Parts: sequence; structure tokens; C-alpha cells
Amino acid sequence: MRILTVCLGNICRSPMAEGVLRHRAAASGLEVVTDSAGTSHFHTGEAPDRRAREAMRRHGIDISDLRARQVVAEDFERFDLLLAMDASNLRDLHALAPSEALRAKAVLMMDFAPGHAWREVPDPYYGGDEGFDEVYHMLDEAVTGLIARIRHGR
Ligand code: 4NP
Repeated sequence: MRILTVCLGNICRSPMAEGVLRHRAAASGLEVVTDSAGTSHFHTGEAPDRRAREAMRRHGIDISDLRARQVVAEDFERFDLLLAMDASNLRDLHALAPSEALRAKAVLMMDFAPGHAWREVPDPYYGGDEGFDEVYHMLDEAVTGLIARIRHGR
């Protein structure tokens, strides 16, 4: 299973999502290839935002090795699932998809947390530290659903 998480900048939400997934998959003994990317090129080459790294570290997860890159059409061939953080990211992914069949690989991250009140992971970039903790908890819930789905063969 190869999973790409996607947001706008690839320095806050999607590297956090990748970090939670990578950590929880390893702890569950699941072979999941993870990566993350941004729909924009604004932060290419940058490490995750300090607040994202610190929020993850508070939960025992290190994402300091990750570096931002922009999503490319080939990602639809390289990955089985492309998980968009919000509806805008999903629209951008759908526009980038090389074919109608591959387009179906892109869905919302929070589709895997159907019990959660929110369908979109809010952009924490312009807010305070508490926004990053909220994002962590949303992602943790979605990853729980995702891992259950992978275990049961989707
Ligand atoms: P992300 O957050 O999409 O969760 O990585 C953002 C980071 C940077 C910007 C926007 C969102 N920006 O406009 O620079």
C-alpha cells in the first residue's frame, strides 16, 4: 500500500498526516509506503513548520526529516491513495489526475473518520499552537480508520 497525503503548503497538515500514518503503520506491523506533497510549490525543500514538528513531538513522533515538494500527475500512478486535507486540495488533485480512473484514488483524509464532525482538516498555518494539536487529533482519528480499512483489505 502506497499512500500520499496532500495539503496546500506541505509544511503543516500533510507532513503531520504522513508522520501519524508512518508511525502507526510501523507500530501495527503494516507495510505502508508513505509520502506527502503540496498542491503549491510555495515551500518546496522546506522542513515542516516548527509548530507542526513540536505538536508531533508532544505525541512522540518525529517528522523533522520530511521535506516539502509539489504534487505531480505521476503521483497518481505511484500511489494507491491520495488523501486530501480539504475540499480545495481535493479539487486541485482532481484537476491534476491523468485519467478518470486514476482520479478516484484522490479522496478526503477525513473520509476515514466518518464519525468526526468535520469533513476537512482546517489549515492551522495562520493560527496558534492549539490549532496544530487539533489537527493532530483529527489526523489520529482518520489514521485509525485508515489502518482498520487496510487491515480488512479495504
Ligand atoms: P499546509 O499549511 O497546507 O497545512 O502546509 C499551509 C502552509 C503554508 C501556506 C498555506 C498553508 N502558505 O500560504 O504559505
